[in-house]
Amino acid sequence: MDKPKVVLGVSGGIAAYKACELLRRLTESGHDVRVVPTASALHFVGAATWSALSGHPVSTEVWDDVHEVPHVRIGQSADLVIVAPATTDMLAKAAHGLADDLLTNTLLTARCPVVFAPAMHTEMWEHPATQENVATLRRRGAVVIEPAVGRLTGVDTGKGRLPDPTEIFEVCRRVLARGVTEPDLKGRHVVVSGGGTREPLDPVRFLGNRSSGKQGYALARTAAARGARVTLIAANTGLPDPAGVDVVPVGTAVQLREAVLKAAADADAVVMAAAVADFRPAEYASGKIKKKDGKEPDPIVLVRNPDILAEISAERARPGQVVVGFAAETDDVLANGRTKLARKGCDLLVVNEVGERKTFGSEENEAVVLGADGSETAVPYGPKEALAETVWDLVAQRLA
Ligand code: CTP
Repeated sequence: MDKPKVVLGVSGGIAAYKACELLRRLTESGHDVRVVPTASALHFVGAATWSALSGHPVSTEVWDDVHEVPHVRIGQSADLVIVAPATTDMLAKAAHGLADDLLTNTLLTARCPVVFAPAMHTEMWEHPATQENVATLRRRGAVVIEPAVGRLTGVDTGKGRLPDPTEIFEVCRRVLARGVTEPDLKGRHVVVSGGGTREPLDPVRFLGNRSSGKQGYALARTAAARGARVTLIAANTGLPDPAGVDVVPVGTAVQLREAVLKAAADADAVVMAAAVADFRPAEYASGKIKKKDGKEPDPIVLVRNPDILAEISAERARPGQVVVGFAAETDDVLANGRTKLARKGCDLLVVNEVGERKTFGSEENEAVVLGADGSETAVPYGPKEALAETVWDLVAQRLA
């Protein structure tokens, strides 16, 4: 099969260096990538780098290799165009259909999905001119990723950072696989918890679990791609923030409960993918617990943590709020899943069979989604994104 053809447009911002990492991910995962920088982008990263990493010649303007008509051909033959970083100037040109270099010509000749990953200072991003250009591009069907919040070029911080290249790559992969889909969660606020809580024993030790957070992140990423405003409550994950998602880091089950309840107050849906510790040490030692010569260690006394899923299911913050839980079972998966669904009182329960194919930390998952209405949706073994999409399909049906 031919490799999917991707055009990586790079405009002139300091984040251009992060596009090298995106380029690597795209080529290493089997995409044929043609890099089209603007002249300003070459102030940040030179043509030699783009050419060497992509294996293709690199030009910024329409006057090279004119016999090949590059200003038309590159766009026409692309399966996806991704512009990262997209400066405020590039967004303005794209929105107004200007065509004064190879990249802007390519944007006008492309008939494939186009993704923009903006990066700029907060003031520029928030300026009504930029916001109107972004709205125009979205109305025409382009995917414009929300910039991340964090450190900007100088000492200042705010909204305007280029999202992590791994997350831009995930957006590209999704758009290539599914096209630009109807944003069926637009106008919705969804809350997702992910990762695993840690219950401290003393300043250096904790009781924890192996949850990687990947399923929660896949849920957050796919909900954002479907147009939702997403709050991700992340317990001890260390993963890059999904593009366009508000991430609230937490440590313990009690902190997770507080963050989930706060975010759920105006949420249309809450998905509890986090592995929450059922128990925590009854006492926290403020100093490190030391060995005592010749003595057995003191037993660790545990107390119950609140059951967050049961609590939010019983006391819905708004009428019609859809609540989804996760359950890992080893035996009698469906029967145990049904009992748990009833006990927790949620609308949907995603039941994983844990066994030979491990779920924790892996990229793939297999599950059955049980509905309180008696429905049963099997999701075959596959990427965690695929399971996430099914969960949102079922949530969207219930919200409609
Ligand atoms: N959960 C929660 N609060 C807890 C424990 C779990 O909100 N204190 C949520 C998880 O986020 C997940 C689901 O409940 O959505 C998982 O439940 P699980 O831990 O499997 O169920 P338990 O009630 O612990 O049942 P059992 O110990 O019998 O497996």
